Amino acid sequence: TNPPFETIALPYGEAAIAEARARIARGEPVAVPTETVYGLAADATDAAAVARIYAAKGRPSFNPLIVHAPSLEAARGIAAFDAEAERLAAAFWPGPLTMVLPRAEGSPVAALATAGLETVAVRVPAHRAMRALLEACGKPLAAPSANASGAISPTRCSHVLASLGGRIGLVIDDGPTSAGLESTIVAPASHAILRPGPVTAEMLGPDYSAYAGDAVTAPGQLASHYAPGKPLRLEAVNAKPGEWLIGFGQVTGHDTLSVTGDLTEAAARLFDALHRADASDGQAIAIAPIPSDGLGAAINDRLARAAVR
Ligand code: TXA
Ligand code: MG
Repeated sequence: TNPPFETIALPYGEAAIAEARARIARGEPVAVPTETVYGLAADATDAAAVARIYAAKGRPSFNPLIVHAPSLEAARGIAAFDAEAERLAAAFWPGPLTMVLPRAEGSPVAALATAGLETVAVRVPAHRAMRALLEACGKPLAAPSANASGAISPTRCSHVLASLGGRIGLVIDDGPTSAGLESTIVAPASHAILRPGPVTAEMLGPDYSAYAGDAVTAPGQLASHYAPGKPLRLEAVNAKPGEWLIGFGQVTGHDTLSVTGDLTEAAARLFDALHRADASDGQAIAIAPIPSDGLGAAINDRLARAAVR
């Protein structure tokens, strides 16, 4: 599902930002430096664009992504800020701090970017290239680190090319990143550090304890992962009485992930389809078989987790 790309690297500047803006507008992910690591950025409001991030990374699961915004004001349209979140934003943004907050009402972020969660991880970055791209696009950008799944995070353009060359179209080269370590992730409501990083516990405040869990190395194990409230049956070719069938390809149901059997489209529609099934009058959910190649592996991983509950 991820065609081979000719990967170009352009030095940071107006031409690079214009080229990146055009690619992001047509739903393509682009690698861009931030002050922490290089990110693989795509329009966070476009589920198909977000699906292409997972496809390029070859990620065998969907974990929720960090959504980057140009300003605190823009971030308030994405996530709901309480007093503690406002305090942290004033103290550390723009910068290497990510906050996990409830989605704002009317948040335009695609469900695939948050893996269907009711929370969203947001950050206002400080790096000139990412900031220029956010301004040019006028959209929040979802961006995980720009490395293939399982590889270490890239702090130079050459790292991105070694890991994702042939899998993405463009890297903006602006030299090595300054922090070299991924952003600190916090949940302001519980004063929890979900991932340690450049903003330390001491910097955050006295009631922040040092990181104690393993939410980052095993993001798929996040207790907060979205699961439908109804039982889910896999590999279904037709609906049993009371079931809401989500189809794929030849298998038609009450809903479908993709009539044409396109895995990128299916990934883009997955969480919305599960939410629709949850809200339907069916007592249980059934889902058609999904092939395991390309993005199908991540879709099936997600479905397997949702089915065991
Ligand atoms: O420095 C960084 O944060 C870089 C640059 C590109 O901004 N990005 C980055 O993204 O490290 P990524 O996708 O590699 O890591 C995102 C982490 C994952 O561990 C994920 O589980 C967590 O953020 N995360 C995202 N949304 C979450 C949510 N709603 N609840 C809990 N954890 C969340
Ligand atoms: Mg990463």
